[in-house]
Amino acid sequence: MAIRPIIEAPDPRLRVVSEPVAAVDDELRALIADMFETMYDAPGIGLAAVQVGVPIRLLVIDLQEPEEEGGEPVRDPRVFVNPEILWHSDSEVPYTEGCLSVPEQYAEVMRPDRIRARWQDGKGNTYEEDIEGLLAVCLQHEMDHLNGVLFIDHLSRLKRDMVLKKLAKWRKEQALKAA
Ligand code: NI
Repeated sequence: MAIRPIIEAPDPRLRVVSEPVAAVDDELRALIADMFETMYDAPGIGLAAVQVGVPIRLLVIDLQEPEEEGGEPVRDPRVFVNPEILWHSDSEVPYTEGCLSVPEQYAEVMRPDRIRARWQDGKGNTYEEDIEGLLAVCLQHEMDHLNGVLFIDHLSRLKRDMVLKKLAKWRKEQALKAA
């Protein structure tokens, strides 16, 4: 397993539309293992393959939600191969999102609060389930990546430009700190 570099905005590689995964094989499972290691190291709760430069329809999620409030996070790794949204609710909820490709920036995004999704896991089993709550938000955010969309694209132009400006400023500060 290896930690892979995460591509950050405004890199055009994040705008590529990912291709369907052709086969769930050992090569794919090696990539999945690397993606989990990269995500846990970052740390984050979701990562799409395109964010590590592999434009295929694959993403991993681990909400690491504690079993009880204030408790220790419990790992709950989930793999989504070729995910599709079959249905979504008309009602939407706000959630303050962040993204490993837009580091240290957060903004409120509105998304459907319930979805019905179909996907395969890392063994090739197919699932079809109704999903709600944080997992629904996270899955929609990660699936956007597969279509070259970032969470900041859901904001007004003014807010998006503000986030990108703050990101550039943050990068400059990081570079000064490292110098
Ligand atoms: Ni993201």
